[in-house]
Amino acid sequence: MPTSPEGTGRALRRWSRQARLYDRLTAPMERMLGFERGREWIFARVPEGRVLEVGAGTGKNIAYYPAGPVIVASDLSPGMLARAAEKAGRRGGGRRLVLTDAEDLAFRDHAFDAVVATCVFCSVPDPRRGLREVRRVLKDGGEVLLLEHMRPSGWLGRLFDLLDPIVSRVMGPHLNRRTLDTIREAGLVVVEERRVFSDWIKLIVAR
Ligand SMILES: C[S@@+](CC[C@H](N)C(=O)[O-])C[C@H]1O[C@@H](n2cnc3c(N)ncnc32)[C@H](O)[C@@H]1O
Repeated sequence: MPTSPEGTGRALRRWSRQARLYDRLTAPMERMLGFERGREWIFARVPEGRVLEVGAGTGKNIAYYPAGPVIVASDLSPGMLARAAEKAGRRGGGRRLVLTDAEDLAFRDHAFDAVVATCVFCSVPDPRRGLREVRRVLKDGGEVLLLEHMRPSGWLGRLFDLLDPIVSRVMGPHLNRRTLDTIREAGLVVVEERRVFSDWIKLIVAR
C-alpha cells in the first residue's frame, strides 16, 4: 500500500492527463539542462542481467537501453506507459512494461541487478518509501542509478521553495526535494554523485 492512496490517486490522474503532451513540453529541456547526457551516462553503466526502470513515463529512456540486459520499464500511469509501449514497439525486441507503484513495487525482494530512475523521485508522493522499495528489490551489491533534479542552493533554492506549491499542484513534480538526503534516509549509500546542471540536476549512484 502507498503511504497516501489519495496522494497516489492524484499523482496518477495528473500524469495520465499530461501523457499526450509530456514529450513535446519537456523536449527543450533535454539538451539545455543536460538530461540527454545524463540518460546516456546511466545506460552506458547498467550491468548485464535484470534491470528495473521505475517511473519510466513515456519511455524517453528506451532509445538509450542497451541490447544486453533484460530491462523492465515500470510506471504508475497507464497513459504514460502507453506512450512507452509505442516507443518500445518501434524498437522491437519485446521490452517488458509493468504498471506498478514505486511505493509498492510488484516484484520480489532482490529481483534486480540494478534499478534506474530519471526525474522520478521529484514526483513519487512518498519518495522515501519509493526508495525503500527500490532497495528491497535490488540484489545485494547492485546499483541504483538516478538522474534527478533537486533543491539547488542559494537564491534559486529559495525561489523554488516559493514556486513549489503551485508547480507541484499543477504539474506534479516537486522543485525543492532534498533527494540526496532522502536516498540516505531510505537506507541506501551514495557512492557517486555528479553534477549535470549546477547543483540542481545530478547523477547519483547508490548501493
Ligand atoms: C517527470 S516524469 C519522468 C518520466 C521519465 N522517467 C523521464 O525521464 O522522462 C515522472 C514519472 O514518474 C511517474 N510516477 C509518479 N509517481 C509514481 C509512483 N508512485 N510510482 C511509479 N511512477 C510514478 C509518473 O507517472 C511519471 O511518468
